[in-house]
Amino acid sequence: MLRNGGLVKASTDKIIEGFQPRHAALWGHEPVRLRHRLTETGLFSDECLAQLLSHYPRENYDLLHMAEQGTGNLAHWEEGELGALDGAVALEAIKAGRLWLNLRRVHESSTPHAQVLQQMFDELAACMPSFRPYRLNLGILISSPGAQVYYHADVPGQSLWHLRGKKRVYVYPNHPPFLPEAQIEKIILGFTEAEIDYQPWFDDYARSYDLEPGEMLSWPLNCPHRVENLGGVNVSVTTEHWTTAIRNSYAVRYANGVIRNQLRLPPPPPTTHGARFWARAALAAGVKASGLLRQQQMERWVRWQLAPERTDKMRPISPYLL
Ligand SMILES: [Fe+2]
Repeated sequence: MLRNGGLVKASTDKIIEGFQPRHAALWGHEPVRLRHRLTETGLFSDECLAQLLSHYPRENYDLLHMAEQGTGNLAHWEEGELGALDGAVALEAIKAGRLWLNLRRVHESSTPHAQVLQQMFDELAACMPSFRPYRLNLGILISSPGAQVYYHADVPGQSLWHLRGKKRVYVYPNHPPFLPEAQIEKIILGFTEAEIDYQPWFDDYARSYDLEPGEMLSWPLNCPHRVENLGGVNVSVTTEHWTTAIRNSYAVRYANGVIRNQLRLPPPPPTTHGARFWARAALAAGVKASGLLRQQQMERWVRWQLAPERTDKMRPISPYLL
């Protein structure tokens, strides 16, 4: 058993199950679905989640109110705060509302979660010798039964490890028209959160996965995706990772975004080799270090506080900038 007094100890038990040679061949090129045993660590029980919530650093979570499913309007995506609520009370309120809580960088707040994150990626790397992930990140998503996550793309390598409830994940191709270069560049530059233009007909080209507890899904870099909760309170782990290839792709799109938005020139294709690549990697590093783009980066306003006594679980507050 992985569980030991609620904490993960050094263990010979595997978290990932059923990894086959074909998964190594598919990884990074196609979505990969595997089984996992994260629940058995005991680190994602209500008790543990409530403990985390009671003292979670404000800068490391997003609490969002979602529109009803079928509504694609990001204007309904409004940021709130947990306030000084006890973790167990906050957890019950999130379960009862149409809310979505993303605890980011959990590995920085909890050593047992950091250990389990390392074990997950050690196991993947043992199955794929050429896979050398670094800058690992573990998040926990807790969302109400009717919540949805809109069409978006993430910057680092991503995997979703489902723990509770049922959810449907739609994964789309990571190239135009599903992912226009100009839009992934803006996400990388921090000009927009993660949202990209969506058309309902994109669904004809998506793969959809109904995830049950104990299943994980990983998809190729930057693949747009959206998620619908199908039933029950949903709890999932998200992991992020970087590799040399992901870093190079980030650098070239960062530079291309600067060329397109600051220099107003059409950028070259986002190739990650040759002299043109290294020139753009240097440009990206220089602009990033200078802080030049900070003023154009998006602002996040907090407009409501979790309120267990209210039907919608939200109380308006004087907006403040995060
Ligand atoms: Fe995502």
